Amino acid sequence: MVVSAHPLASKAGADVMRKGGNAVDAAIATQLALAVVHPSAGNIGGGGFMVIRQKDGSLNTLDYREKAPSAATSTMYLNEQGDVIPGLSESGQLSAGIPGTVAGLVESHARYGKLSWKELVQPAIDLALYGFLLTQKEANGLNYIQEDLKKYNSILPQFLINEKWEAGDSIRYIDLGHALERIRDRGLAGFYEGKTADDIVAEMQRGNGLITHEDLKNYKPVWRAPIVASYKEYKIISMPPPSSGGIALAQLMRSVENYPIKDWGHNNTKTVHLMVEAERRAYADRSVYLGDPDFYDVPVQQLTDKKYIDDRMNTFDAKTATPSKAIREGVFILKESDQTTHLSIVDSEGNAVSITTTLNDSYGSKVVVAGSGFILNDEMDDFSVKPGVPNMYGAVGGEANKIEAAKRMLSSMTPTIVEKNGKLFMVVGTPGGTTIITSVFQTILNVVEFKMTMQEAVSAKRFHSQWLPDEVFPENGTMDSVTIKKLESMGHTLQFRGEIGRVDAILVTPDGKLEGGADPRGDDAAAGF
Ligand code: GLY
Repeated sequence: MVVSAHPLASKAGADVMRKGGNAVDAAIATQLALAVVHPSAGNIGGGGFMVIRQKDGSLNTLDYREKAPSAATSTMYLNEQGDVIPGLSESGQLSAGIPGTVAGLVESHARYGKLSWKELVQPAIDLALYGFLLTQKEANGLNYIQEDLKKYNSILPQFLINEKWEAGDSIRYIDLGHALERIRDRGLAGFYEGKTADDIVAEMQRGNGLITHEDLKNYKPVWRAPIVASYKEYKIISMPPPSSGGIALAQLMRSVENYPIKDWGHNNTKTVHLMVEAERRAYADRSVYLGDPDFYDVPVQQLTDKKYIDDRMNTFDAKTATPSKAIREGVFILKESDQTTHLSIVDSEGNAVSITTTLNDSYGSKVVVAGSGFILNDEMDDFSVKPGVPNMYGAVGGEANKIEAAKRMLSSMTPTIVEKNGKLFMVVGTPGGTTIITSVFQTILNVVEFKMTMQEAVSAKRFHSQWLPDEVFPENGTMDSVTIKKLESMGHTLQFRGEIGRVDAILVTPDGKLEGGADPRGDDAAAGF
């Protein structure tokens, strides 16, 4: 089964498994198909994280996060007075990090792939060159970025320009299809060298971007040991730094482990209060301690230690909200954009893959690489552009996540796999910036504590809290007026908002069947056989 953000991408992955491919093969085909059918987040111009659990229980994670170009400096988005130049890290060529996606997919194929590389890239090429029909949501997305496309591209991507895109319109991405053909035929060299590399560098030169041929050639994905944390009879397996996701998720799960939330009930006052208090503490740690482990010594063991986490919860007051400033002051948190995408895959042998991938903002930097037809990320904004100064989402970061040449920017992406009593139990993840971690947290609890089906757990209303700002953000309709009043009387400030996340997940039921949960907040779909 494949669950992803678009039915055509899920189908591409499921078809690969029908042909005998494994979960990693399907993940490659699905991610590349998403780059065509879901271009706001699916990508070859961005980066991502992959968590793998093989049928024998062995674990691995692959970090193919973007990196800062070698010419990047900690002051690159500041003016002469040392103030942040608004927008510079958010859009345009200078906001792009060195893309990691193609290197990550090639690397995962070399280690785990079963089918030929060419067979895995071909479905995306076919979608790009023969075309497909837009969904309403994809049409809305393309309408939304028309002005930005005109603003940030000196060579206009005419194929994306339209007075009004509508559901059912057919679209083809010819340059992207040919860029994918080069990746199919030459693998790494088809992207990081040759015409595509030339196109990226030419695009940089048109807009004062920094990525060079050398940067592209030097990009390497990294295999990293996963974060593994126990929760009752479950094992939570997730992404280590440079994602904050695995550590924060482990902290959240372990913070609530000692409390009877199953008896309290889903989205009940006591449950929400406890979870928000746990989130306050986990996100305070995140803001200070997390960054690229190749540059900053992240105290992984200490942060996920059960005694440390229990001690943090010692100040939990069952009746009153703890003001965030009483938890930790002075260092702010980083928040990423909510345009990212997740795919969950389990093959017929029980191999599982969980990938979250992103361009950062919706449609990334809004720059379409002329001649190669794909969108570049604006991942540089995930760095703390200037310690203490908010980024485009009102968030700021600290020393651990300052810009340095060739460093990876901090992420919240939390591709996760859960085991129950040593067996594969769930594959889960979502887009949503900092809300990723709390959405994954709630989805797991919805199944393991509140006994929801996978689809119910994904569809259920969610809330988010992240230490600063000192507020709770529930989706509209998450809780009734009595619960709202009680939470407010305990000292919580509630800010209702629209949808949070697009969770895509798979549950392995006790009889070994797979149950998909595809988020109704998007076009997300499960495909399987
Ligand atoms: N840009 C979103 C994230 O990495 O968390």
